[in-house]
This record gives sequence, structure tokens and C-alpha cells, in this order.
Amino acid sequence: MSDKLRYDGKVAVVSGAGNGLGKTYALLLASRGAKVVVNDLGGSTHGEGADTKAADAVVEEIKKAGGEATANYDSVEHGDKIIKTALDAYGRVDIVINNAGILRDVAFHKMTQKDWDLIYTVHMVGTYSLCKAAWETMRKQKYGRIINVASAAGLYGNFGQANYSAMKLGILGLTKTLAREGASKNIKVNCIAPLAGSRMTATVMPEEMLEALRPEFVAPVVAYLAHEQCEDSGQILELGAGWIAALRWQRAKGGFLPFGDSSPEAVAGVWDAVMNFDDEPEYPETTQDSFPPVMGNLERYKEAASKL
Ligand code: NAI
Repeated sequence: MSDKLRYDGKVAVVSGAGNGLGKTYALLLASRGAKVVVNDLGGSTHGEGADTKAADAVVEEIKKAGGEATANYDSVEHGDKIIKTALDAYGRVDIVINNAGILRDVAFHKMTQKDWDLIYTVHMVGTYSLCKAAWETMRKQKYGRIINVASAAGLYGNFGQANYSAMKLGILGLTKTLAREGASKNIKVNCIAPLAGSRMTATVMPEEMLEALRPEFVAPVVAYLAHEQCEDSGQILELGAGWIAALRWQRAKGGFLPFGDSSPEAVAGVWDAVMNFDDEPEYPETTQDSFPPVMGNLERYKEAASKL
């Protein structure tokens, strides 16, 4: 068993920490020495209303257990105000967990502009805004740990969640780029796609599953990613109920159009190869990994042209 991971001297900002998963992240980090900014707007799962009670209750719980915490009630798109709370109270920010979230599930043909805009604001703008507000401080400190929250709905698509899935996959793109930009300053940025019982999943999960999928299974993974011991960055992990796994892209070897024929029929002719993941698939990790087949084929075309 390794030594207990501690967060003494570290300041963590957890958005949406008044309920569900975020609350367990805040409690766990605080119990191991972190000073925590408990952010929560205190609205409904659909993004309506506001209340200070949710954040206050978690701060209270942390303090009762002997920890340090400060409440913040701003909506996450005001990341600068939330980070200011951390800097004013504790003078630094080491960990940002972009957890706040709402749902506006509805089939795409019935989705309103408001359904789209609210999900965009809370998930995409919220995550951007907190990262942006903490970024300069983390760069100066040469230290930062950011954990963003995606979802299986974003990774795979899910009926009734066009708005939510678009933002959740957008958050993964943001994660991967920030991981690259933060690398030289020891800022690690990772992403999770959790599954847990909460008020958010209460509408779609049966009671016994809600109880079994405890958020406490997810919290230690987030805490590990938030620790200085974690060296990985730019990763996406799927997790729940004590299972944790990294996910990556897989690309088929692909098909090449015959030189001189770029017709739709030629595409149909190579389609089996385009869709074949069994024969020498690749696992690109960077844009540099992504380009070689395109460039290689240009060379093949050039060679073929020179023989004409
Ligand atoms: P939850 O509804 O229990 O907690 C979300 C918290 O975020 C609430 O306390 C809410 O008041 C707060 N919040 C909402 N909008 C906010 C805003 N604009 N500013 C500040 N706080 C705000 O939900 P849960 O399940 O704990 O979800 C946490 C995160 O995990 C979300 O990002 C969600 O999309 C994501 N997630 C959860 C899954 C699950 O199985 N529970 C599955 C996949 C992703």
C-alpha cells in the first residue's frame, strides 16, 4: 500500500460542489489537507434558480470535520469571480475541478435555443472560464492540476442529449489542447466520464442502481488526478463503481483512392478498407500522428504522376 496521498498547502476549486459528485470531491480533498473553494449556484438540475444553501452546507460539513473551506455562489461562466474567491481567501489555486453541470434533455427536433444555450453556458463556457481564470496563476506557480468532466453521452452520443453531448466532447478537446499548452509549466489537465447516482441521474436510473453507483467510487480517481504524484495529462478516463479505464482513439488503416480516380464510385470501391478496424489499426495521439497517411498518399500520387 502506498503512502497516503495528501494535499496540504494546496488550494482546490470545485465547481458545483454543493451536491452529488462535486460534493464528494470537495469533502475528500478537504479531509486530506486541501483548502477548498466550494462553488455552487444552487439551482435546479435544469439550470433554474439559485440558492446559497448547497455550497454553505458543504463548507459547514468540511469545517465540522476540521477542514478549511470557503463558499462561492457564482455561476461557472464567471470563472474569474470564483478564482478570485480562492486567491482572496488562500492566495493561490492549485487544483480546479470543472464539475458543475445541468441537463436539458430533449429530442433534437424539440430542442429550443434556450435548451442549447444553457447547456453551452454551464458546461462549455463554464469549463473554459474557470480554466482561463486559473491558467495564469498556475503558469506562474509552475503547478496546476485541472480535472474536467465529460460524459459517455459526449463520447458516444445519446438520444435526447444533442446539446449535452456536444459540450461534453468539446470539453475533451479543450482538455487535450490545454494538456499540451500546460506541459512546460507542470500543469496537468485530464478529463473524466463518470457514472454515478446523483440527483442528475435520478430521473434515468432505478433506485437500487442509484444507490449502488455511489459518487464515492468516483471521488478517489479525481483526487488521484488532482495530486502532484499523477504525471499523466490529456487523458480521458471512463469510470464508475470502482472500475477505471483510459480511452483512446483507434483509426482504421484506411483505404486509398486509386491514382487518377477521385469519383464517388472509387470511394465505394475502398469503403471496406475505410471501415476495417481489424487489419493493422493505428492509435494516433497527436495531430502529427494524424497526418502521415495523407502526406504519404500525396507522395504516392506524385510518384505515379511522374511516371505518366
Ligand atoms: P448534480 O446535479 O448532483 O450536481 C451538479 C451540481 O452543479 C449541483 O450542485 C448544481 O447546483 C451545480 N451547478 C449547476 N449549474 C451550475 C452553475 N451554473 N454554476 C455553479 N454550479 C452549478 O450532478 P452530478 O451527477 O453530481 O454531476 C456532476 C458532473 O458530472 C456534471 O458535469 C455532469 O454532467 C457530470 N456527469 C455526471 C454523470 C453521473 O452519472 N452522475 C455522468 C456523466 C457526467
